[in-house]
Amino acid sequence: MRLAQGMTSSSVGGRASGTPGCVYLVGAGPGAADLLTVRAHRLIAEAEVLVYDRLVSDDVLDLAPPKATRLFVGKAAFRHSLSQNEINALLVKLAGSGHEVVRLKGGDPFIFGRGGEEAEYLVRHGIPFEVVPGITAASGCATSLGIPLTHRGVATGARFVTGHCRDGVDLDLDLNWDSLADPQTTLVVYMGLANAPRMSRRLQAAGLPPDTPALAIASGTTPQQRICRTTLQGLPDDVAAAGLSAPVLLVIGKVVREAERIGICGVPGEPKRLQREADRA
Ligand SMILES: C[S@@+](CC[C@H](N)C(=O)[O-])C[C@H]1O[C@@H](n2cnc3c(N)ncnc32)[C@H](O)[C@@H]1O
Repeated sequence: MRLAQGMTSSSVGGRASGTPGCVYLVGAGPGAADLLTVRAHRLIAEAEVLVYDRLVSDDVLDLAPPKATRLFVGKAAFRHSLSQNEINALLVKLAGSGHEVVRLKGGDPFIFGRGGEEAEYLVRHGIPFEVVPGITAASGCATSLGIPLTHRGVATGARFVTGHCRDGVDLDLDLNWDSLADPQTTLVVYMGLANAPRMSRRLQAAGLPPDTPALAIASGTTPQQRICRTTLQGLPDDVAAAGLSAPVLLVIGKVVREAERIGICGVPGEPKRLQREADRA
């Protein structure tokens, strides 16, 4: 049963005990259901109430019992979405009336997922909660393609940044371009599709070479996965020409080329495992 969002605890059947239930802030991983943690899988399979975001895949939701109540609170075209304040209040109301709530978020709940804000709100309202980590899109998408985000002699670190502007805040003010333009660091940009042209321009202006390898991954780890291999300079035009649609992750750095050079990377074709299966056929 998948319920239209807008439902509240009063419309969800269940216990009316005096003691609060618990909220499990669970990372649903990058999409593929078999990339869930064992703990996340168990909690979903036993769920009574699920409150979930747009990036949680149907394959993951299908693991929940048919009788579980599913409340969609994400942002999606043609569907009204709840504000973060309304989501916080919904979690408190559900758990406050005794429900065990599985709050499912794509990737890891504490990486660009506002899970920290929800946890803070639960603490303030005395609601017990537990956080279950998930594979974040950066490692899920890149590693499953055979791209190591760090690699000895190539990238000494990785930076995860958001390419999304907060309402009324200019991206230029939010990011330190000089520190990001480091050729020894892999840059992973979440929510960077719309601002790819500006990211490309500002990183080049800050000194990152235009031929720095770049990769855009759409719907990584899912059957809908699409990739676009390009350079920092070519990023805006190539990603636009490829017609990728959200969710898209940008990986910028020498590891993309290096992974191809040493033959551990499935880019730009299929992952190695699939290539071997094709060879056998
Ligand atoms: C609001 S953030 C949530 C990130 C999430 N908490 C995580 O740890 O992966 C959403 C962004 O994550 C990235 N993303 C999440 N899943 C993805 C996937 N399967 N493929 C590509 N990008 C993904 C995209 O950049 C998307 O715009």
